[in-house]
This record gives sequence, structure tokens and C-alpha cells, in this order.
Amino acid sequence: MGMLEEIEKLKEEATASLARIKTPDDVENFRLKFLSRKGSLAQLFEEMKQIPKEEKPAVGKLLNEVRTQLESDFESARQSAESEKKLELSRIDLSVPGRKRYIGRKHPLTQTAEEIKRIFTGIGFGIADGPEIEDDYHNFEALNFPPDHPARDMQDTFFVKYPPAKEGNGTGKYVLRTHTSGVQIRVMENNKPPVRVIMPGRVYRNEAISSRSYCLFHQVEGLYVDKNVSLAELKGTITYFARELFGSGVRLRFRPSFFPFTEPSAEVDVNCFICSGKGCRICKHTGWLEIMGCGMVDPNVFKFVGYDEKEVSGYAFGMGIERITLLKYGIDDIRLFFDNDVRFLNQF
Ligand code: DAH
Repeated sequence: MGMLEEIEKLKEEATASLARIKTPDDVENFRLKFLSRKGSLAQLFEEMKQIPKEEKPAVGKLLNEVRTQLESDFESARQSAESEKKLELSRIDLSVPGRKRYIGRKHPLTQTAEEIKRIFTGIGFGIADGPEIEDDYHNFEALNFPPDHPARDMQDTFFVKYPPAKEGNGTGKYVLRTHTSGVQIRVMENNKPPVRVIMPGRVYRNEAISSRSYCLFHQVEGLYVDKNVSLAELKGTITYFARELFGSGVRLRFRPSFFPFTEPSAEVDVNCFICSGKGCRICKHTGWLEIMGCGMVDPNVFKFVGYDEKEVSGYAFGMGIERITLLKYGIDDIRLFFDNDVRFLNQF
């Protein structure tokens, strides 16, 4: 076979092989086989040295043409293989399962508080709030806790040394409020009867931290004052509330109790829905769970806020949000609410 034919044959072979190039590997294989220093094209240039002088111009011309052609075709094949590869990498695989996103959820205490608010606003109660740093007057005195009266020992108080400046001197005695009952006073000071509000908020007590008590917790206070408000209305409202919150089958028990700001006073129990009254760890084998304190507003409290105790009467109640949430879910350690362990929180 003459040199010219050999060149034509190489050209055909190389062109066919170029057409098959797809991947960067194909590109490299082609380069090694045809275009590298030891490749077929270089070999032909080597061979050209041996041929008779008169054939050289024609052979050399063809060889150069073929080389130029192959090099430029190779370059475009190389580029398209590369962009093909890039495209491959950026291709979206719609069959890949999505990455799961964990969305946040409301804290169980928030959920209970919202549920309580929903129930009471649904029967005409408004919502009010008051300061967490409270003066002695609102937290105790106007609620009929006389100075130095032992009733103050019912609640372990955090005393605050410096009153907030804008509040002036007041009595000079400030506390982290031990209950939300002080908001009752503020509401009555600022509104004429009738008033019908609930007052949710955070309260503080200087108690040893344990599974049953924490230095802070949350309460919802309730107050209804109008002409002729009766104990029967208090019972009716609380019964309605408990049925909404715990289910229509719940049974209630009003037990006589004492609070300085209500007379008469009661504590409210519901039948233990964990053991349905048989007796268990949560109800301490009594079959009953205490959910709140309540009573008829003491006439002395009306005197403090300037209401005429002969004209109006009212009822009040107060419950702990942690306590109700613990009971609702059968949780046995209050600290879980404050640890913020998502393994706990994710369950609600
Ligand atoms: N303030 C009471 C406490 O923290 C709860 C309470 C009892 C509130 C009776 C009331 C009430 O409004 O009438 O233990």
C-alpha cells in the first residue's frame, strides 16, 4: 500500500473514531492513539522520511492537511464531551427522595395556654396581662394578705431589691410575682364593673427545684365581677371549662379551701383520667387530680380597688398551666418543660 493510501486509511479510521467520542476517557484514548507523539499520525510523519524524494511533496501536503483537519475535529469533539459531562453532573434526578425538613412546633405549654384561652374567649372572657416584677401591694396587700400575715408563707417569694425606676417608689417592696392574682387588682383598678377576663402569665417561686416544682411556671387567672354573680355560675363555668379541656365525661369535685382573696374558697379536682379513678401514680392513688383554686371574690378585695361590695359580686379562679399539661399527658417531671430537649418536645 502506498503512503497516500495509508494516510487516507488513517483519516477514515480517525474520523470514524472521532464520531464515537462521548466521554472524557474517549477523548484521551483518541489523543493517545492518533495525535500523541507516539500516535499513528506521528508514525506516518516518521515513515515519510523513508520515501523517495519526488513523492514527498504530495505525501507531505496530504499528511499536513489530514493533521490540521483531525486536530480541529478533535478539539470540537473534546469540547462537546466536556460540556456533556458538565450537563450530566448538573442534571437533576427527580427520583431521588426529598430531604425531610423538620418544622418547629409549639411548646406543649403554649398549646395548653392557647387551648385555655380558646375556651374562655369563646364564652365571652377578654384577656389581660400585668407585670412580672410586681409590687407588694398588687401581689399581696390588695389581695387581702395583711402585712406579716402567715398567709404570705403559702408562697415562697423572690424579693427584688430595686424597683424599676419608672414605677416610682410605691411601697418600696417589689417581688417577682408569685401568682397572676395581682393582675385581677390591676384590671379592677382600671375598669369599672362588669369585668370578665382571663390573665395568663409567668410566675416565680423560690422553691427547691424537683420533679414537682420549678422556680418559675405559668398560670391562668380568671375574674368575673358583675351584679349578682353567684357561686353557681362559678361552678357552671368551671365545669364547662373542664369538659371542654378534658372531654365531656370528666367528673368534678369542689373541695372547700382557703385563699385570702376569696370567700368562700375551693379547690377543684377532676377524676383521674389516667386510671379513671382506680388510683395510680399520677393521682397519688386518690382517684382525683387537683386542677385549680377558685372562690367568690372577698369583699375586702373590692374595697381595695374601689368597687362597691354591696353592689357587685364576683368569682375568681387560678390554675397552673404546667400542672394541667402534666396531668393531660401523664408526664411526671415538670423540669422536662424547661430543658428544651427536642426529643421530648417533638412528641406534642
Ligand atoms: N393564686 C392562687 C395560687 O397561686 C390560685 C388561685 C386560687 C387564684 C383561688 C384565684 C383563686 O383567683 O380564686 O395558688
